[in-house]
Amino acid sequence: MKRALVPGTFDPITEGHLDIIRRAAQIFDEVVVGVAESPNKGPLFSHEERVELARQATADIKNVSVEPFTELLVEFAQRIDVSVVVKGLRAITDFEYEFQMTALNYELSNEIETLFIMAPPKFMFLSSSIVREIARLGGDVSQFVSPCVETALEQKFGLNSARG
Ligand code: PNS
Repeated sequence: MKRALVPGTFDPITEGHLDIIRRAAQIFDEVVVGVAESPNKGPLFSHEERVELARQATADIKNVSVEPFTELLVEFAQRIDVSVVVKGLRAITDFEYEFQMTALNYELSNEIETLFIMAPPKFMFLSSSIVREIARLGGDVSQFVSPCVETALEQKFGLNSARG
């Protein structure tokens, strides 16, 4: 039984994240989506909200579960007995940050292997922060997020869900 962990802040989960999760779910028997608390990032959505949105958005993928975590990624991976971490890689700008995290995680625990899946071109420049910005200014984010996330963003920013 091969299991993988897809970690992130998921503030909120986007179609780009879902693409990586779906592809990981085709490769591995089980995929755990680990939602980090990430208090240093000052997330728009609470930890509980991000977990709930990730659960709803992945509900149709049968071998995926969603778990919150507040400890180090390597500690969480050990706690749930997963040794493979899967991350998405978008434009080259992601590389340095991901390279640093992978190297540090390896220093913290060399039992964890990190694999990268490249984002397809249509999601290359999609990020949670861009989605939050578009939604905050009242733009249409329906092509970038699941309907449950779109609704949550509208509620967060006090927008009317009925589009003209
Ligand atoms: O979606 P993000 O915010 O780019 O994901 C980053 C995340 C959550 C994977 C990273 O910040 C993380 O692993 N956080 C858990 C705490 C931790 O282990 N920090 C040290 C990483 S070297």
